[in-house]
Amino acid sequence: MTFLRKPRSRTAAFLPLSLLFLKILQPGHSHLYSNRYAGDKVIRLIPSTEEEANALKKMCHQLKVDLWQPSSIFHVSKGAVTDVHIPKNGSQVLLAFLQEANIQYKILIEDLQKTLEKASSLRTQRNRRYLSGYNYEVYHSLEEIQNWMHHLNKTHSGLIHVFSIGKSYEGRSLFVLKLGRRSRTYKRAVWIDCGIHAREWIGPAFCQWFVKEALLTYRSDPIMRKMLNHLYFYIMPVFNVDGYHFSWTSDRFWRKTRSRNSRFRCRGVDANRNWKVKWCDEGASMHPCDDTYCGPFPESEPEVKAVATFLRKHRKHIRAYLSFHAYAQMLLYPYSYKYATIPNFSCVESAAYKAVNALRSVYGVQYRYGPASSTLYVSSGSSMDWAYKNGIPYTFAFELRDTGHFGFLLPEMLIKPTCTETMLAVKNITIHLLKECP
Ligand SMILES: *[C@@H]1O[C@H](CO)[C@@H](O)[C@H](O)[C@H]1NC(C)=O
Ligand SMILES: *[C@@H]1O[C@H](CO)[C@@H](O)[C@H](O)[C@H]1NC(C)=O
Ligand SMILES: *[C@@H]1O[C@H](CO)[C@@H](O)[C@H](O)[C@H]1NC(C)=O
Ligand SMILES: *[C@@H]1O[C@H](CO)[C@@H](O)[C@H](O)[C@H]1NC(C)=O
Ligand SMILES: [Zn+2]
Repeated sequence: MTFLRKPRSRTAAFLPLSLLFLKILQPGHSHLYSNRYAGDKVIRLIPSTEEEANALKKMCHQLKVDLWQPSSIFHVSKGAVTDVHIPKNGSQVLLAFLQEANIQYKILIEDLQKTLEKASSLRTQRNRRYLSGYNYEVYHSLEEIQNWMHHLNKTHSGLIHVFSIGKSYEGRSLFVLKLGRRSRTYKRAVWIDCGIHAREWIGPAFCQWFVKEALLTYRSDPIMRKMLNHLYFYIMPVFNVDGYHFSWTSDRFWRKTRSRNSRFRCRGVDANRNWKVKWCDEGASMHPCDDTYCGPFPESEPEVKAVATFLRKHRKHIRAYLSFHAYAQMLLYPYSYKYATIPNFSCVESAAYKAVNALRSVYGVQYRYGPASSTLYVSSGSSMDWAYKNGIPYTFAFELRDTGHFGFLLPEMLIKPTCTETMLAVKNITIHLLKECP
């Protein structure tokens, strides 16, 4: 169960190095997450007609597959694809159906348990190479991230102030890190949240990276200095704290919050469908067992309510809302819930265009960008639309790397390149909103 950075045992420190290596390379008989993904597959579905898409939709509903992003919910028109995580007992049925119906598909992950264990055995080796200092190139548990925030609050009080905006369903504090040079004069602000969806671990890693870069380059980089002198950044590294914790301890692919439902045994609400903007309409589900469940009412989730309350209170000076998700390699802006052009479209569009160009300039990684509805899919009740509707003029959602090769299991080796390129995009958007546009 535990594959964190903790030493395996006290005696491990005294074992000969070679033995230690063997121990690390062969995780032995204990399986992560109780071996629950043994034999599960991740399959990319590529329907080419409406009939095929509809048949797949029905099939996937019956088999209760777990939809992975980038999920077009089977819109064929854009040539989009859908990745699904299918349990072992359903994969035979699905594969037989795909072959019978002659629908195109590709198996992305043959055995999810094996892939997961391989990824985490690599993690164990990497972690051991960094015993001193803070390692930003590994995924951190919730406890580690919260300790890190408290540490920075103590050691960097000139630029950082950490506070709580409320409590999660399970009673955990919802910490926000305020970053920027303190000033008596009026300052505009940028809100950044990561980890609305629990399994998207690259999100919190990016939030931490952003803070690290800010502290490291504040003195040497004129752009960063300008950002921190002229703006406050409110950064919430883990929005969905309960879900994130659960994704470490029990189900790596958990997405929702962890709230209970009075009538169903299924737990959790999609924290990105729970906002009061066209709530529970297209692209959201009313069924508590679905991954896009909108909740019993808007802001039913304490995490959503806490952030909405904070944003409402500070909306006058918050100029931008940035939300980090994975995976799809996209930079999205409103609307999510309808096909329509936002007012001041050209300002937002040009910010996005420049940001994806800046991102691509580092390693050549391509991001698609555009309104969420037409670029990804229609979804109602999202935080981005809500922030926009509540007067924040620049609202974006990033879907970070990759496009499905590793999916949610993006290796730690890719944290650094992913965050480095994303950093450039965020700086670009920030400078853009300081300089141009309203
Ligand atoms: C697979 O197993 C789960 C629980 O073990 C069950 O709920 C589900 O109906 C099964 N699916 C199929 C297609 O047999
Ligand atoms: C952060 O530090 C300040 C003092 O500088 C303290 O008042 C505050 O309670 C700290 N935040 C948290 C969450 O502990
Ligand atoms: C933003 O990106 C554009 C290219 O897309 C570049 O010309 C510009 O210099 C960048 N600005 C900043 C502040 O990084
Ligand atoms: C659009 O821009 C104008 C100024 O150019 C500004 O007054 C207005 O508030 C902006 N609207 C939105 C929705 O951002
Ligand atoms: Zn997400």
